[in-house]
Amino acid sequence: MANLVIQGPSRLNGALSVHGAKNSTLPLMAATLLCDGECVLHNCPQLSDVDASTRILRHLGCKVIREGSTVTVDARNAQYWDIPDALMREMRSSIVFLGAIINRMHKATLSFPGGCELGPRPIDLHLQALRKMGVLIEEDHGCLSCSVPEHLKGASIGLSFPSVGATENILLAAVCAEGITVVSNAAREPEICDLADFLNACGAKIHGVGDSTIIIEGVRHLSGCEHRVIPDRIAAATYLSAAAVTGGDIELKDVVPAHLLPVLPVFEESGCEVSVDQNRIRLKAPDRLSRVKSIRTMPYPGFPTDAQAPIMTMTCLAKGTSIFVENIFESRYKHVGELLRLGANIKVEGRVAIVEGVERLSGAPVEAADLRGGAALVVAGLAAGGITRVGGIHHIDRGYENIEDSFKTLGAEIKRI
Ligand code: EPZ
Repeated sequence: MANLVIQGPSRLNGALSVHGAKNSTLPLMAATLLCDGECVLHNCPQLSDVDASTRILRHLGCKVIREGSTVTVDARNAQYWDIPDALMREMRSSIVFLGAIINRMHKATLSFPGGCELGPRPIDLHLQALRKMGVLIEEDHGCLSCSVPEHLKGASIGLSFPSVGATENILLAAVCAEGITVVSNAAREPEICDLADFLNACGAKIHGVGDSTIIIEGVRHLSGCEHRVIPDRIAAATYLSAAAVTGGDIELKDVVPAHLLPVLPVFEESGCEVSVDQNRIRLKAPDRLSRVKSIRTMPYPGFPTDAQAPIMTMTCLAKGTSIFVENIFESRYKHVGELLRLGANIKVEGRVAIVEGVERLSGAPVEAADLRGGAALVVAGLAAGGITRVGGIHHIDRGYENIEDSFKTLGAEIKRI
């Protein structure tokens, strides 16, 4: 298995363009299934999760061509409605295809998405909503069998939690349903807005995305369109935390600063100078970071759970104690044990992690257990003195395009072996 070998510490300097958002590309690729015409998606990141989505679309009968960061999908000949267990296992977020497959085929068969490293990943909110829209769903032997005896109909849906995936599945089912669907307590993440922008460009009638109430007026037909995927705000936050923890000075290009509003104040509180203009963010770190009093992960526009791990790494070398509360996922502290091997001082009590800043980290072999925790270990290796070898980097490749090249661009000594 491949490893990343990092020689630290190295102050990161320079400019870097941020790749397109994984968590926008996946639902957008599912949405192309609904289009009666060719869809061209620009700025698609080269990630294993995007490759998995390509395999799902091809399995369903779509023509998918990738040229660099442009993915072209023609779903007009799609004729299947199942996602094989192997593909579901490969990427549990394949559940975002459910709404689109049901909308297009009026039936769907897929295996129950397993849990993942972050804990059980229930889909009760997805299924409740789809049932309200007239979908019959049977769950047995780990398989979901869905059918629409008459037609998908608009419904009034209140989400008990602003689930990103459930909001996306509702959008993808409701966009061609008969009548109007009103979603209250909807997720407000930028990736939801990106999906709605794409669907509206194809002829959908979706209003209110970005707020907690979304109104979808079903239409009969969606054309194809050309769309540019928004930049990956979590990758951006990861690179910024690497610059912060190494006393660096970097500029990120092709970002949307507004998408990082929940995160930028954390860098400022830790003593970094942050300046933004329309699509750039500049961060200049102090020699020694200050602690961040408390970080609570919340649904957007709160602090994003996906940035918790990299930002925790940053606080490991800060002066003082930083407190994290992980409110979104049950077990999203798997990186803590590995950070301790590098010399960090962290105590986890349930959803709370207490980070006592230390003077230095020292390189050691560590193992990634999930995507963002793995990225956090790379960030730690950049700041640690000596050699850090990170294993399990297939987790990282799911969400970061050539992570070693990105950090090499900023002056890091890092290689994949
Ligand atoms: C999306 O996952 C992202 N994945 C996650 O990013 C991100 O962490 C998460 O949203 C929160 O922002 C993609 O977009 C592909 P949720 P999703 O439904 O849709 C509970 C990464 O690192 N819940 O908002 O699965 C759930 O258990 C990944 O890029 C239910 O209880 O997130 C969790 O505690 C990791 N029932 C919380 O809601 C449901 O039916 C948030 O889940 C659905 C969710």
